[in-house]
Amino acid sequence: MKEFRGRVAVVTGAASGIGLGMAKALCAEGARVVLADIEQAPLTEATAQLRDSGADVTPVCCDVANEASMDALRDETLAAYGAVHVLCNNAGVAGSLPLPIWEQPAEEWDWVMGVNFNAVLQGIRRFVPLMVEQNEGGHVVNTASIAGLIVARGIYGVSKHAVVALSEAIYRDLEARQQPIGVSVLCPGWVNTRIIESERNRPEAPRAMPEAENPLVEQMRKLVEQNIKDGLDPDEVGRQVVDAIREDRFYILTHDWVEMIESRIRPIITGSNPENFQMPIAPAQEES
Ligand SMILES: NC(=O)c1ccc[n+]([C@@H]2O[C@H](COP(=O)([O-])OP(=O)(O)OC[C@H]3O[C@@H](n4cnc5c(N)ncnc54)[C@H](O)[C@@H]3O)[C@@H](O)[C@H]2O)c1
Repeated sequence: MKEFRGRVAVVTGAASGIGLGMAKALCAEGARVVLADIEQAPLTEATAQLRDSGADVTPVCCDVANEASMDALRDETLAAYGAVHVLCNNAGVAGSLPLPIWEQPAEEWDWVMGVNFNAVLQGIRRFVPLMVEQNEGGHVVNTASIAGLIVARGIYGVSKHAVVALSEAIYRDLEARQQPIGVSVLCPGWVNTRIIESERNRPEAPRAMPEAENPLVEQMRKLVEQNIKDGLDPDEVGRQVVDAIREDRFYILTHDWVEMIESRIRPIITGSNPENFQMPIAPAQEES
């Protein structure tokens, strides 16, 4: 897709961080954008901010992990604009329990896989048939993570690997049917957003963090927090996504972390065990 003017985009998780960055970049190109998010107050604020800049946006408060809510998102998109050309399945949560896989409660699996993976699938099931029927071209962007390209860690890592696999599968299916619909999978490194505060959107009341048995857990949490604070500006990520749609580029990597990706692939090729690796530290952003 080369031209965005007048086209309709749906962005989930659009009230904050990378989703808001994508919405701003799409609006700057003249697209009309449906802003979908579970948080009403930031959604209202993002809507006002974008409308003040002259953008045509429609807010929809919804829970992407809820199928009826996703039906409503599709219906409200069609009611507002009558079409859809760009789908950004972006809403995501980090999960937060520092437990091994076998001790993670079922609710944690349901929440993280529900928002990070199943919602991406449900977005595709609702919007891609509309794009096919319209026959006007289109593009799907699924937000995974660098965590989906390296050795998986925790439920988050599992969910992001699943998003990468789903994106590859839909890419192949569309290509095999010669549909003029592109696919990209966004795999960011550290980006300065509120992802570390995902607890705010946990379906049940926020749970107290279990007592960290290992001081390394707390140390790791602080390191991640600092890396995210020093991470890329989400508006820059939004612009990278628009460029990738225009260039019809599948993998969108925001950081040059080739060695980490190679460290996953190497043992697969040589038939050895997964390598240990350290997540790179984000270079501190210049004070402005
Ligand atoms: N920030 C990073 O360093 C980073 C790195 C890699 C991948 N990502 C991915 O980027 C995506 C966006 O996250 P972010 O970093 O901008 O975080 P963020 O917390 O700033 O934004 C996430 C948005 O998703 C919304 N959301 C959460 N649960 C929802 C639900 N059930 N229904 C609808 N909306 C919901 C939140 O309200 C929020 O507005 C996520 O998929 C995340 O996994 C982030």
